[in-house]
Amino acid sequence: MIIVTGGAGFIGSNYVHYLLASTNIERIVVLDKLTYAGSLDNIRSPLTNGQIEFIQGDISVEEDVESAIRHCDAVVNFAAESHNDRALLDPSPFIETNVKGAGILAYAAAQNGVKRMVHVSTDEVYGEIREGSFHESLALRPRSTYPAAKAGGEMMILAAVESFGLEACITRGVNNIGPYQHPEKALPLFVTNALLDMPLPIYGTGQQVRDRMHVLDHCSAIQIALERGEPGGLYNVGVDNECTNEYMVDHILQRLNKPKSLKRYIEDRTGHDFRYSVDSTRMRELGWEPQYDLNAALNSSIDWYVKNEWWWREARSEEFENYYKEVYQDRLSQAGQDHTPA
Ligand SMILES: NC(=O)c1ccc[n+]([C@@H]2O[C@H](COP(=O)([O-])OP(=O)(O)OC[C@H]3O[C@@H](n4cnc5c(N)ncnc54)[C@H](O)[C@@H]3O)[C@@H](O)[C@H]2O)c1
Repeated sequence: MIIVTGGAGFIGSNYVHYLLASTNIERIVVLDKLTYAGSLDNIRSPLTNGQIEFIQGDISVEEDVESAIRHCDAVVNFAAESHNDRALLDPSPFIETNVKGAGILAYAAAQNGVKRMVHVSTDEVYGEIREGSFHESLALRPRSTYPAAKAGGEMMILAAVESFGLEACITRGVNNIGPYQHPEKALPLFVTNALLDMPLPIYGTGQQVRDRMHVLDHCSAIQIALERGEPGGLYNVGVDNECTNEYMVDHILQRLNKPKSLKRYIEDRTGHDFRYSVDSTRMRELGWEPQYDLNAALNSSIDWYVKNEWWWREARSEEFENYYKEVYQDRLSQAGQDHTPA
């Protein structure tokens, strides 16, 4: 039995679909708090077909974790507060889930004899890098709340490896794109705004660089780390698909046949890292090979949102609207365009 924490979110739900399609694991349990970012719509068909079980619970609450984790062989932890912009509005849930939650989960896993665990972390823990790539041996220098909390969570996992012999390893993946990503995040925000003929808010000059990985490439890396990763091992997961935010926006507008006049350059967010890049040699030495190049990853992601309007219309809820106004309304007004559809 495997527990996928945060399995109703973006990467976690893709991992659940990946497990069902690519492995023979008999019992899959999703433990998820169902925050704004989690939705049962993301795992609707396996839930309806009885292929997975769902428990609503919080990884930072001991009782929730204890009751779910008993009799479990493996844990993959995706549960996190994951949006940098939200961390600027309120850091508390980031500390609660990403640090305390990771610690409680790791302790419970060790106490309940869990055999294997992967803790899904991020390349953002290293901080930004203008040239070259981060190796796992380098020090962590997170520059904002989300990656700082993720770095804290990593320490809790490594402490459980040392103190209790937990067989856990850590992956540090680059920026993911693909199906079921909450529309607050960059690619789905740009695609759905473009489909609605709304302006696309681009932070600063749009020259920030990200390595964009299709979520299924991330899922296959996590599975290999679960099967073959060393206890206490750190694994960068990058794909050499670097591009600027502006390149991604231009690509989206071109694919959707929408005008470049929808682009708006808005005031940047504070602590916005300019570039991330990781050296994934160790992950590749475990036998991992990504499948999607940059354009394939972008195109298949964009096309999914075009085909699944029902999904993103549901996700662009009233809460989404409130968040969108709080973050973008003033910035868009300063850039000469309010938040309403063009
Ligand atoms: N999105 C990326 O580009 C990316 C890249 C590298 C690593 N990661 C990491 O991968 C993981 C998943 O990211 P994502 O983009 O899918 O995030 P997401 O925000 O889409 O999903 C997070 C999920 O965790 C759940 N959750 C939040 N707090 C919880 C709690 N206390 N207890 C139980 N469940 C809780 C949410 O309901 C949601 O379903 C995160 O740990 C993130 O740091 C993300």
